[in-house]
Amino acid sequence: MQAYQEFMDEVLVTGEEIAKRVQEIGNQINKDYAGEDLLVVCLLRGGLVFTADLIRTLTVSHELDCMSLTSYGTGHYSSSGNVRVNLDLLTNIENRHVLLVEDIVDSGRTLAHVLMMLKTREPRSVKVCVMLDKKMRREVPVTVDYVGFDVPDKYVFGYGIDIDENYRNLPFIASANLEKYQKPA
Ligand code: IMP
Ligand code: MG
Repeated sequence: MQAYQEFMDEVLVTGEEIAKRVQEIGNQINKDYAGEDLLVVCLLRGGLVFTADLIRTLTVSHELDCMSLTSYGTGHYSSSGNVRVNLDLLTNIENRHVLLVEDIVDSGRTLAHVLMMLKTREPRSVKVCVMLDKKMRREVPVTVDYVGFDVPDKYVFGYGIDIDENYRNLPFIASANLEKYQKPA
């Protein structure tokens, strides 16, 4: 695996900035759901690190469940919008307040698909929380209720977000220069 320093463009968000923002989002969620029971749904695998940090800022009572989706098709470093469910929820969400936690919203296709799917199960409410929003890339409208940071139209990695399944462990979020990046053999 190539050292990230060889292809990193710049650090977009530091670990300190992330921690501060996660706490602010958590505070807002605690206010918005005061007195309610929440079901936090982590979208694997990119949402894992964010979800782990976010739930530790929550004081509202909540359960945690996970879903795994794959967006497949032609684009290697962009989502195609053909979304497949690899792992579904174990929890029955009927009449529950659901909060989806995702790493990044780009075209919006992944979230639009999962929202449409979950709404057929008649939850009491569904809200969306993303760490990163690439607003200028949106192709499908999705309402995002909580956003960590807006990011430019660059390929990003770190804080749970991968490039070819690597670099999820990095504590910051950085942009990649894909011309310098070498795909693992
Ligand atoms: P969308 O369906 O186009 O909104 O894409 C969302 C999904 O694409 C996210 O869950 C990520 O897995 C992936 N994605 C989009 N942009 C990036 C990026 O810059 N780095 C890594 N993954 C990304
Ligand atoms: Mg993802």
